[in-house]
Amino acid sequence: MKVLVFGSLNIDLIFSVDHIVAGGETISSSSLVKSAGGKGANQAAALAKAGMDVYMAGKVGRDGQFLLTLLESYGVNTGAVRVYEGASGQALIQLDKTGQNAIVLYAGGNAAITIDEINRTLGDFGEGDCIVLQNEIVFTGKIIKAAHERGMRVCLNPSPYDEKIAALPLDLVDVFFVNEIEGAALAGSSPLPQILDSLTGRFPAAEIVLTAGREGAYYGSGNIRGKGSIVEVPVVDTTGAGDTFTGYFIAARYKQYPLQAALDIASKAASLAVSRKGAMEAIPLAVEVFPSKQSI
Ligand code: RIB
Repeated sequence: MKVLVFGSLNIDLIFSVDHIVAGGETISSSSLVKSAGGKGANQAAALAKAGMDVYMAGKVGRDGQFLLTLLESYGVNTGAVRVYEGASGQALIQLDKTGQNAIVLYAGGNAAITIDEINRTLGDFGEGDCIVLQNEIVFTGKIIKAAHERGMRVCLNPSPYDEKIAALPLDLVDVFFVNEIEGAALAGSSPLPQILDSLTGRFPAAEIVLTAGREGAYYGSGNIRGKGSIVEVPVVDTTGAGDTFTGYFIAARYKQYPLQAALDIASKAASLAVSRKGAMEAIPLAVEVFPSKQSI
């Protein structure tokens, strides 16, 4: 079983600030760090660090070569990432003293992916393989349809949530990964239990995984419910926590961990990630996260 992450690769520019800048305000940052990110690339890194056979597809400019080098160092196959003569995706990230962030994206190569590239990439995958998607590249709806037709299992993290999500063929999605904001937008309701009930009702054949920060993570599929708890850590940087959770949850399920163990494993991985600075580089290794089989 191969996992294909068709998604964004971004150069993250992290400005450490006292507080998130307000409209009309100018503030100084205490540091500026260029690092590897993009929801797609982060999820591919998390899956690879968790021990999965992962393929990344997307597009970067020559300025994004370091993203590929880093992904490859984690074991991600980057053969389906095209390099073009334009800029890579960029994320301007304000990181405040409490570890919270505000992000402005420039799509760059993430918006330059073509239908032909999608068709050629998906041609190497089929029945039983898994595709992992987010909402930072173009043609996500076409990719969902094509992957479903090939018999692939479709995992969607509809993030960042915008008006394009409602137009996607969501009934073809097998597993949704949402945070509270995305879940509420998709469900049209806001308290946590209602989000889960509403989404499991609307997508009866799908699995719904809802991350809720300090409250942990909730799971729903039909009448089945689950909950994972975070590990208490000092919060340094929440960037990429959801991506870490997604990668580790998928990996844990494919490694046949029971639902409860998979929720706890993914929650622990995300907790470790928020205790470190950065997105992709903050994702923990399998040895830090997976319990020994005897302790499950
Ligand atoms: O989920 C975190 C990611 O969102 C960052 O790495 C940034 O690139 C944005 O895509």
